Amino acid sequence: MISEMVLPGGPSIAVRYDGRVESPYLKAEVSEAPVGLVIVNSGGVRNAMTVSLFSEVAHYPIGLWVSIAKDSYTHSLLSAAPEFTFVTLHRGQGDIARACGTESGRERDKCAGLDLYEGGNGFQFLRDSIASTACRIKRSVDLGTHTLHVAEILFGDVTRRSGLPRHLLLSDLAKI
Ligand SMILES: Cc1cc2nc3c(=O)[nH]c(=O)nc-3n(C[C@H](O)[C@H](O)[C@H](O)COP(=O)(O)O)c2cc1C
Repeated sequence: MISEMVLPGGPSIAVRYDGRVESPYLKAEVSEAPVGLVIVNSGGVRNAMTVSLFSEVAHYPIGLWVSIAKDSYTHSLLSAAPEFTFVTLHRGQGDIARACGTESGRERDKCAGLDLYEGGNGFQFLRDSIASTACRIKRSVDLGTHTLHVAEILFGDVTRRSGLPRHLLLSDLAKI
């Protein structure tokens, strides 16, 4: 059985009775992709959303791009303050990706359930992630439904301990 939910802050998402998530971001992908989080801390409001439409753009200076749906809460927060934390999730963090990718922060404080810490200058970092990086948007491109943000990475915490699980992938979420 599949029940359909149309969330105010995001696209239509179907939650299966067995707990698996049917998201357009899991169904319409053209290739395997890692999964991360964008965390915004703007004017005392924190929010986290799951992302898979992202990649690095350069190493010197280091930067990344991420594509954010215009109807998401994150999009409106980024319009007010163009800074965010980009979190690289590992394979053991599928539940976090599901929680932050199936509900809008307009409905629920998603950050309350995350083990966050202050990474510096107000950026919220996620404990036990592969990496948490502070990003500042340099350029934004209107893509219609989404805005593609190109950001520079200011600083970050990267976990280098051996034995850390590999990146969380879209296919891992499809299996949950
Ligand atoms: C695996 C996965 C990947 C996703 N990737 C993106 C993405 O790259 N860009 C995007 O705008 N939304 C993406 N989403 C959808 C958002 O995470 C979702 O709409 C979220 O509820 C938005 O939260 P917000 O309204 O609190 O910002 C993804 C969802 C999932 C489950």
